[in-house]
Amino acid sequence: MLRNFLTMDGTEEPEQPSDSSRVLVVYFSATGNTESVANTIADLTGGDLFEITPADPYTSDDLNWTDENSRVVYEYENPEARDIELAEDTVDNWDEYDVVFIGYPIWWGIAAWPTDSFVEANDFTGKTVIPFCTSSSSGLGQSGDLLEELAGTGNWLEGQRFRGGAPAADVAAWVESLDLA
Ligand SMILES: Cc1cc2nc3c(=O)[nH]c(=O)nc-3n(C[C@H](O)[C@H](O)[C@H](O)COP(=O)(O)O)c2cc1C
Repeated sequence: MLRNFLTMDGTEEPEQPSDSSRVLVVYFSATGNTESVANTIADLTGGDLFEITPADPYTSDDLNWTDENSRVVYEYENPEARDIELAEDTVDNWDEYDVVFIGYPIWWGIAAWPTDSFVEANDFTGKTVIPFCTSSSSGLGQSGDLLEELAGTGNWLEGQRFRGGAPAADVAAWVESLDLA
């Protein structure tokens, strides 16, 4: 919608930004599944993307939950080790976003914990927050509620779980059902 308005003195000036919501899609993804859903949401909504990146990224050995000596198993068993430092935990022009999607993989039934660090670092006041996750088989469970609790601010909607590799059409059907302005 790029209409121009005539001002009192007859010169044209650009219209104010449209009244549709500005969308940000924040996600953490260790192996690409959540990233793929995030990309689809951003395409569909015209939203901007922000990837949550741990300062010390997870290698595939780190992610091996079948190895009792792996990093994720250690963090799972030691909740105090889940306070993951991020490369960046703030988003440019954060105040301008009305709608924030937050995506993450499910790890042991909850949101992969690097997501927590982002949620704790930001103020969601005045924003609609929409969680989404990918997993092999688990549902969203309490993951959205736990993040909402951690945030303490924002209007959090019921989230949505997708299986890894979910078709874009499934993501599109969900985004449409949200009826975002
Ligand atoms: C450490 C770890 C724990 C996981 N725990 C679960 C789980 O509890 N339930 C489940 O359905 N999938 C689980 N998964 C599978 C991931 O949720 C799934 O592969 C997800 O799509 C990965 O997303 P990503 O590619 O964006 O990292 C786990 C994966 C990892 C690496």
